[in-house]
Amino acid sequence: MMVMDILSKYSESIDKEIDESLSTIDPSMLCEASDHLIKAGGKKIRPSLVILSCEAVGGSGKDTLKTAASMELIHTFSLIHDDIMDKDEMRRGKPSVHMIWGEPMAILAGDTLFSKAFETVLKTNTDNIPPKRVVDALKVVADSCIKICEGQALDISFEGNLNVKEDEYITMIYKKTAALIAAATKAGAILGGGTDEQIEALAEYGRLVGLAFQIQDDYLDVVSDEEDIGKPVGSDIVEGKMTLMVVHALANASKEDKEKLISILEANNEDLVPDAIGIFNKYGSIEYTRNIALNNVKVAKELLDILEDSEAKESLKLIADFVLERTH
Ligand code: IPE
Ligand code: IPE
Ligand code: MG
Ligand code: MG
Ligand code: MG
Repeated sequence: MMVMDILSKYSESIDKEIDESLSTIDPSMLCEASDHLIKAGGKKIRPSLVILSCEAVGGSGKDTLKTAASMELIHTFSLIHDDIMDKDEMRRGKPSVHMIWGEPMAILAGDTLFSKAFETVLKTNTDNIPPKRVVDALKVVADSCIKICEGQALDISFEGNLNVKEDEYITMIYKKTAALIAAATKAGAILGGGTDEQIEALAEYGRLVGLAFQIQDDYLDVVSDEEDIGKPVGSDIVEGKMTLMVVHALANASKEDKEKLISILEANNEDLVPDAIGIFNKYGSIEYTRNIALNNVKVAKELLDILEDSEAKESLKLIADFVLERTH
């Protein structure tokens, strides 16, 4: 099966859960603002990982649909707020929520989705899943939200900080991106009744896939075209964001190129994006980051060896590879 088929297999059931969850939001303006990106449709990687991780430890995926939906709600909340922070005007090929409804309403739309996520997990049918597992899954969801905020705070604080080291960058992307992906796999394994060893392996798989995911996101930001990724290209460079390519280039470039790159990161000028890419190429920064991501994916897949063979396990392997093959 192709990854797109795997992801679309669950898409409809996840959408149904989300629709049900959002249907009661009032006033209608807040409801529309909250639903805008959901309607635009994402790849649904995180909810699919919940379902697959549950199945990979022998559970029944459909019992995790509420938690799967909650992962997409948390993800969407983080995107709405992220676009305000990053001043990005497009998301999923559509204008960002704050471009249509303004920042105050976009903040509220994010807050609403965030709260809805917790409400949704708590609606899990405990006829099929022991309540203790639901509580444990809820704890995982809450913990990932704290990490997202910590990571986003680091992301912002790294702008203009030219001394960021590679391990600090990795901590930042772990918190802002990988923690939620690890929460998805961990919560799925918990709900499916996995052993401690299986739960930890799937959580670590999620962490490594999540790191590769953000490294790929940073990479796509410099190499894609806008139509493909549905958001502006080069925006990280314009915003002066620390990415692994920047960290590597700053650590390896000649004094002259280092100064040039710093001036580009400070210039807030999209015409200079190709010059920054030229510096990344000159110092092998793109290849360097790609190899780190490839290694993360390789180790992530090996961690799945402790699981019994299943279709879900194969799907998890395919998703790990897909993270670096994706073009949007
Ligand atoms: C984008 O995530 C935001 C990051 C954490 C890098 P996705 O690429 O999964 O976004 P959608 O949900 O498919 O739009
Ligand atoms: C995404 O980081 C992190 C979160 C949304 C929490 P980015 O800021 O790189 O994501 P994109 O590129 O806007 O999707
Ligand atoms: Mg962003
Ligand atoms: Mg951001
Ligand atoms: Mg990005």
